[in-house]
Parts: sequence; C-alpha cells; structure tokens
Amino acid sequence: MSKKQYRIAVIPGDGIGKEVMPEGLRVLETAAKKHGVSLHFDHFDFSSWDYYEKHGQMMPDDWKEKIGKHDAIYFGAVGWPAKIPDHVSLWGSLIKFRREFDQYVNLRPVRLMPGVPCPLANRKPGDIDFWVVRENTEGEYSSVGGRMFPDTDREFVTQQTVMTRTGVDRILKFAFELAQSRPKKHLTSATKSNGISITMPYWDERVEAMAKKFPGVKWDKYHIDILTANFVLHPDWFDVVVGSNLFGDILSDLGPACTGTIGIAPSGNINPEGDFPSVFEPVHGSAPDIAGQGIANPIGAIWSGAMMLDHLGEKVAGKSIVDAIERTLAERTLRTKDLGGNADTTACGKAVADMVD
Ligand code: NAI
Ligand code: MG
Repeated sequence: MSKKQYRIAVIPGDGIGKEVMPEGLRVLETAAKKHGVSLHFDHFDFSSWDYYEKHGQMMPDDWKEKIGKHDAIYFGAVGWPAKIPDHVSLWGSLIKFRREFDQYVNLRPVRLMPGVPCPLANRKPGDIDFWVVRENTEGEYSSVGGRMFPDTDREFVTQQTVMTRTGVDRILKFAFELAQSRPKKHLTSATKSNGISITMPYWDERVEAMAKKFPGVKWDKYHIDILTANFVLHPDWFDVVVGSNLFGDILSDLGPACTGTIGIAPSGNINPEGDFPSVFEPVHGSAPDIAGQGIANPIGAIWSGAMMLDHLGEKVAGKSIVDAIERTLAERTLRTKDLGGNADTTACGKAVADMVD
C-alpha cells in the first residue's frame, strides 16, 4: 500500500490509440483500487492529427511544462499518414519526448502468453520470457557525418557511431540491475566486435567492467548475427538482452515477433533516474486500417500500463495486471480478431479488468 498519489499524463494520440487507451485506463483504475494505489490522470489532446489540424503543430509550445512534472506519461499511438507525413507527426511529438526527457532506455518484454499462437514451433508459455533493453539516445543513430561531392563520381557519405562512456555505462547498469532482480540473473550482450572493430570492442570492454560490479549476474555475449538466429532457435536461453541503439532496435522487434501478435506487445521509454517522466506505450501504431471499428486489441496498451506501475514502484499492482492478461488470454473466450476471436476492444478490456485481483 502506497500513500503517494501518482500524476499520470494521458495522451491517446491518433487512430486506435484513442480506442485502446480507455481500456488501459479501465484496467489501471481497477488495479490501483484493488491495491490501494492512488492515480490521478490528466488528459491531453496534443500529439495527434486532430490537434495539428487546429493548431498547425503537433504540440503546444509549452508542452514540456504541461507534462514534464508528471510521474509518467501513458501514451497511445501517433500517426495519420493520409493527412500528415509520419516524420512530421513522429518527430513533432514522440521523438521529442524521448530526446528531451532523456529516455535512454527502451524496454520491451518478450514473453509467450498462454493461448497465443507462437510463430516458433513447439514452444509453450514459460519457454520464452525475457527482456530486451535497448540504448535509446546515441550509438549508430547519430547525426555526425555528411555527404560530399554530391552528384559526382566522388560522391560519398559517412555517418559515425557515437558511444560515450556515460551513455554506454548507464544502459549497461540498467540492464545488469534488471538481470540481478530476476530469478535467472543472466545478462546477454549483443555485440559485433569481430567486424566493427572500434566501437564494439569498446562496448565489450564496458560490459566486462560493469559485470565486475554485479558478481551475482552470469553474463555472455553474442555477435548480433548469431544472436538473431538464437532468438528464433533458442529463445529459452535468454533472460535480459542488452544492445546498442541499432542492435537493440532490431532485437526489440524480433523478440516480440517471436511471441505472436503485435497487438499485445508493450514498451517503456525510460529515464531511470526519474529526472523526467518516462513514456509507456504499446509497440503498435495507430493502425489506420482498422481504426474506428472498435476491434483493436487493447492488451498492448493494458500491459504498458502494468509496466508503468512497475516503474513507479507499484510492483504488486503491476503484476496483478500482467497476471490478469495471462488469465484472459488463457481462457480464449474474450479475445480480439487479431487473435482469432470476435470480442471487441471494450469487451476485451472489461474481461481483463474483471480478472484483476
Ligand atoms: P501499426 O502498428 O499501426 O499497424 C500494423 C498492422 O498491425 C496493421 O495491419 C494493424 O491493423 C495491425 N495492428 C496494430 N495494432 C493492432 C492492435 N492493437 N490490434 C489489432 N491489430 C493491430 O503500424 P503501421 O501501419 O506501420 O503504422 C500506422 C501509423 O502508426 C503510422 O502513422 C506510423 O507512423 C504510426 N506508428 C506509430 C507508433 C507509435 O506511436 N509509437 C509505432 C508504430 C507506428
Ligand atoms: Mg523499431
């Protein structure tokens, strides 16, 4: 039981973001009530095409004052490509949160849930249960570089990977701490120090140095090529997998893809120190192809809410939601169309809320 009241900024965004968020809130409210957690929600309509249409920009100039003091941001999805180019909507909102709130951890669970058909043969719930931790601010995604001699035979382009000791060490520390908190206490590092001969050996060096501070954590490393193969062939080998921005990007899509539908995958963009709020959002986008029909799967949003509670330190309440999702999926009766069922978004959200205890 916690006495603190958490202030959450709620931003549904576009498309199915607006349909799944009410279900996420329903389940959060249920879990909060059952576990004596006090949540206060402030709702914002920016970071959406509707807002842009009215104001000519994705967010108000003072967006940072509006949401920067909240304990967390609960986000739906942004993007409406028929009306506004994706790079405008994304860079005008979500990417600003990630950069300006220094959310240097991108965190995604990879977990095979009961009753969800697994694209990998002969895998059952319990076989696949790990986390992908991606560095979210530097590495391969830098803006250092350029193009010279355009439109000539000498034309060339470069783009440099930037790894700072601060940037590498802080993501590794987060990953080792996560590994230490789990029963298997096992960390895997994604590398490519055989081919990328300066930055990746540096990454390996920092992993080794960090490992010394976590003597209770077993660790290993794989080159990214064989690591992707092992995600498919031996997903049971992993517990916490940490990678640079590019490698983490690939692994954080491959991992959840190995466990079924995109409709249930959650994620966190986290500033672990709490200097700024972290963003919790489903992995999926605004799905214009099904928006407005009330058939979107709300579980990605609901699970993101569970991750948010966990991040706030309300572990028991967070776990009660993940357990409820598991039980709802296992029962197979109230599932959405992407999982072969015929429940609508609201019915599925209510079913999960009913299962929370
Ligand atoms: P998407 O994730 O929106 O949809 C991909 C496919 O998965 C679609 O066929 C969709 O119907 C289906 N799908 C997605 N979520 C579902 C759910 N909850 N239940 C059932 N089916 C679901 O990706 P897409 O189509 O590439 O992008 C659409 C828009 O979303 C674009 O504007 C894109 O930029 C944006 N986007 C935003 C993200 C974010 O806000 N973090 C992430 C990914 C895309
Ligand atoms: Mg990606």
